[in-house]
Amino acid sequence: MTNIINEISALVTDCGKIILNADRGKMAIDIKSGVADLVTEYDKKIQAQLEIGLKGILPEARFIGEEGSHDELSDDGYAFIVDPIDGTTNFVKDYHHSAISVALLKGKEAVAGIVYNPYLDEMFSAIKGQGAFLNGKKISVSAQPLDKALVLFGSAPYNKELFPKAIEILTDYFYKALDIRRSGSAALDLCSVACGRADLYFELIVSPWDFAAGKLIVEEAGGVVTTIDGEPLSFEGKTSISAKNNVI
Ligand code: IPD
Ligand code: CA
Ligand code: CA
Repeated sequence: MTNIINEISALVTDCGKIILNADRGKMAIDIKSGVADLVTEYDKKIQAQLEIGLKGILPEARFIGEEGSHDELSDDGYAFIVDPIDGTTNFVKDYHHSAISVALLKGKEAVAGIVYNPYLDEMFSAIKGQGAFLNGKKISVSAQPLDKALVLFGSAPYNKELFPKAIEILTDYFYKALDIRRSGSAALDLCSVACGRADLYFELIVSPWDFAAGKLIVEEAGGVVTTIDGEPLSFEGKTSISAKNNVI
């Protein structure tokens, strides 16, 4: 598995250059399901490169990507779940906070995960049972209680009907925690919790490609990832998510 992680790291580092060198001025941007659900030519280009590269690394693995070509998950065998650019709106706005996320599942459980932020050249990685790492150095979640916590949240603009509930939960945290942030990349929010830069992250709807790699990275860093009701997360569809250290 270490070899596989090294090969995926090299692949996503290459794909990261596509983000860094993108010609934003001429970029083709489409709207997917509704308002503000954006996809650029670069999301598609990176996903195509990931699909070819990952097939070369593990030919028998299925491939599930945000931008189409979805195989089904199965009870056995390997599957990659990828988000070619997590934080597409940030990318479109040149906000410098986006990542490439690749998870490897065996059956319905993540066994390896990579989240790469090309802007900071930060490679978060985890292999099931072997800990979580940032650029090769072991990371762990914080031990901060809620009153000292930085709380992250997500609220996709294409799920506006959930915003009042998210704000209600957030308001409670705003009064009880140290401070709050909304970054625009679920994968990086999870990695921020994993390395202790933040202490809790929640969102009412995310898709498997948003969290598949980051969930394993948080868990391998000693954190806890569930739905917001404390139930186990499934990779089979949209879900709410809560990721935190084990003190809060
Ligand atoms: C989105 C980002 C955002 C989160 C949304 C996701 P995308 O992914 O992770 O932070 O709030 O739920 O859909 O569209 O940028 O890949
Ligand atoms: Ca995403
Ligand atoms: Ca995406």
